[in-house]
Amino acid sequence: MEDMTTSPKGSFSSKLGFVLAAAGSAVGLGNIWRFPYLAAKYGGGIFLLVYIILAATFGFALMTTEIAIGRKTRKSVIGAYKTIHENWAFLGIIAAVVPIIIFPYYSVIGGWVLKYLFTFMIGSGSKAAESGFFTNFIGHAFQPTVFFLFFLLGTAAIVILGVEKGIEKFSKILMPALLILIVFIAIYTLTLDGATEGLKYYVKPDFESFSIKTVVAAVGQLFYSMSLAMGIMVTYGSYVKKEDDIKQSVRQISMFDTIVAILAGLIIIPAVFVFSGGDKSALNAGPSLMFITLPQVFQKMPAGQFIAVLFFILVALAALTSAISLMEAVVSIISEKFDYSRLKSSIITVAISLILGLLSVFGYSIMDKVLIIGMQFLDFFDYISNNVIMPIVALLTCELIGVVVGPKYIEDEIYLSTNHFRARWLFRTMICNFCPICMIVILISSIIGYV
Ligand code: PHE
Repeated sequence: MEDMTTSPKGSFSSKLGFVLAAAGSAVGLGNIWRFPYLAAKYGGGIFLLVYIILAATFGFALMTTEIAIGRKTRKSVIGAYKTIHENWAFLGIIAAVVPIIIFPYYSVIGGWVLKYLFTFMIGSGSKAAESGFFTNFIGHAFQPTVFFLFFLLGTAAIVILGVEKGIEKFSKILMPALLILIVFIAIYTLTLDGATEGLKYYVKPDFESFSIKTVVAAVGQLFYSMSLAMGIMVTYGSYVKKEDDIKQSVRQISMFDTIVAILAGLIIIPAVFVFSGGDKSALNAGPSLMFITLPQVFQKMPAGQFIAVLFFILVALAALTSAISLMEAVVSIISEKFDYSRLKSSIITVAISLILGLLSVFGYSIMDKVLIIGMQFLDFFDYISNNVIMPIVALLTCELIGVVVGPKYIEDEIYLSTNHFRARWLFRTMICNFCPICMIVILISSIIGYV
């Protein structure tokens, strides 16, 4: 019989541990600042509705596929695709490129979060609210480098401890803490004077802002938010026990992820609304919302300094658990490919990330004249991974599973731990029809949007 618990790479000791670790990967910066502004931009309640439906269908099918691939092959992403089909090893390589690109710049942003946390903790929150604070901070290389290193090494310390003693143990502490914090802050901001106006703006469906763009934006967000198409769920799936029910875990992970995203909106939208006097442009996209607008909001809010510290702890935890999963995906590839120990593979991952991350740091300071297709390094890494490589990986995964080996390949794996899979038809429709169409639309829209 296949040995499923004592794999040399480690495994999750409990289903809860796995669900929390995967939810830790899913819940990240994407939930906390990206989701709220997208919801505000694309029609409030209608965006929420579209997103929830997509999470329960599209997200469910893709996440189930990835976790099942991992558990069935027990390999990191490169080995996994090769095991499914000899000629498809290339897909594993493309998927592996994504965490290698994302991890460094994600850690740079994690460093920015630590800087803000530190600034509010030492009681200098009013400085963070001054105009020019953010651009001044990222415009000089030294401090962003120091905070980036802190974040990178903190993540590495947990990953080096291993799957059970590091990732699982920390997720079991950090994820409940994150949930308590976000619920507390949401209740607080909703009791602010005038918050109901903002709340209405957030949840009331605005049909005029609904268009195909709403769906494309929701699919794009879903991808990123559920950490799909980058080998992470394949990697985590390879540490899951054969008796754990995959579809049930996927439901729990996506629910956790979606609830946190919705709660983040409940914090940010009413708060920004109240303190900007209903100015929608205050909900602008990009880093400016979290690093410029929110510090100003905290400045005006009663007990704002304290709430700001809690908020940045929340964001830091969310970013940390996501970064752990990104690093783990890279480490598992290196250790499998070269047969290196976890420690050695982690050191190599840190070294690569240091180089790529410094490019992102310097892109705003000493190398700010260097642009790649009109973008700074960080934006370029973000664009190429999210808008180009990930949709390609998802599209080809659908082709491989839906057409080449057939959806039964995944279904057999799911039936190992359950004897009913009522959503089977849904799974098939998604993988064989809906997901590929969505991916093609996303790819086309990113290409025409930028070229
Ligand atoms: N899912 C994370 C988020 O919502 C982002 C992420 C992307 C995490 C890639 C890991 C890997 O922020």
